[in-house]
Amino acid sequence: MMKQVYPEFQNCKKLLLFGGTFDPIHNGHLAIAKTVQETCGIDRVIFLPAGQPAHKDGKPVTPAPMRVKMLQLAVEKEPSFVVSLLDVEREGKTYTVDTLELIHSWTDSDTEIYFLVGADSIHDFPAWRQPEKILSLCELIAVDRPGYDTNTLLKEIQSLEQTYHGTIHYVKTEPMRISSSDIRKRAKRGAHIASMVPEAVAKLIKETKLYQDKPVQKALTKQEMITRLQDTLSVKRFIHTMGVAQEAVKLAKLYHEDETQAEIAGLLHDCAKDYPPALRDRLCKEYKVPLDEYLKSSPGLIHPFLGAEVAKREYHITDEAILSAIRYHTTGKPNMTTLEKIIFIADYIEPNRAPFPGLDEARKLAYTDLDETMVFMLEHTIAHVQEKSSVLHPLSVETLHYYQNAIKDKL
Ligand SMILES: [Fe+2]
Ligand SMILES: [Fe+2]
Repeated sequence: MMKQVYPEFQNCKKLLLFGGTFDPIHNGHLAIAKTVQETCGIDRVIFLPAGQPAHKDGKPVTPAPMRVKMLQLAVEKEPSFVVSLLDVEREGKTYTVDTLELIHSWTDSDTEIYFLVGADSIHDFPAWRQPEKILSLCELIAVDRPGYDTNTLLKEIQSLEQTYHGTIHYVKTEPMRISSSDIRKRAKRGAHIASMVPEAVAKLIKETKLYQDKPVQKALTKQEMITRLQDTLSVKRFIHTMGVAQEAVKLAKLYHEDETQAEIAGLLHDCAKDYPPALRDRLCKEYKVPLDEYLKSSPGLIHPFLGAEVAKREYHITDEAILSAIRYHTTGKPNMTTLEKIIFIADYIEPNRAPFPGLDEARKLAYTDLDETMVFMLEHTIAHVQEKSSVLHPLSVETLHYYQNAIKDKL
């Protein structure tokens, strides 16, 4: 919530406003503020961190409280440097002209307001909102920026003064050789930034690992997975799940696949199957699980697709081979990996399954040829689904055709 009045703008003859993202504040900013202060006889420099803009590269900026904290640390030894929360506490997009109007209304009538801008901003100034009004509320102080020619800057200043009837000063400063984006990049890879920012700021960045990537969350251990499955699955489903994991390991051994991948995919294949409908629907939205018309009309088919997302986000599985095996364990898909086929088949033949027609045949086939097992199982399943007039997903039919052709080609 914005305060009524910000006292930092009061009781001061010459105010310099220094706006920016300050992500982070660095020694270049401070050196410029100091030079301009000394050259122009400024009484108080007010740093105005921006609310929540995006960086030019589209990455989100550090939340305002942290940027403000760094600014406060940077100016703590400089009593004439002050940090204002004005733009941070205002809601919505803030325009310079609005900020200046507010500040103007709070300052004493004889206060001179100066606004610091880089050469790049002078170049873009005609595109700012109400440039003439801005220049009626303050005087600009332009400073050099790397890559901007001083003579061009001076010409632009002259032309702006004529067009908008205002005053723009030029102050020669050492162009900043430091940039906030360089500091972020260096901090990200753990390189030193001590010479680029005040000591207290460097310490804070280091301690909070501010610009480092958040560590990838480690996958749950096998025991943690099992405990969690016990909590979220019915007893019957939990017993089935343990059977699928056991069967998947046996098949992986036989077909020279990674047994750990097979075991994890087996354990997690039905991890979302017993979620209550309200939770299932909420998570499908939250995890952006694409639901086609078949899945919408037959929610029982959703669990493999949701399960892959749950495995990724809640069990922290990053191995796409495992996630894909979970995703296609019910419909199948053309051209499956061996691991995908193993999970598809293990789900069907696991040792705890109650007997049903075709089970023994499928078990025998699984130990001789995976593709033939796929055809056998899909033919049985599709016939069963059609008999019950349940929803048949077209992906199952495509998978059947794919493997019918695959085994024909082998002959
Ligand atoms: Fe399943
Ligand atoms: Fe299953």
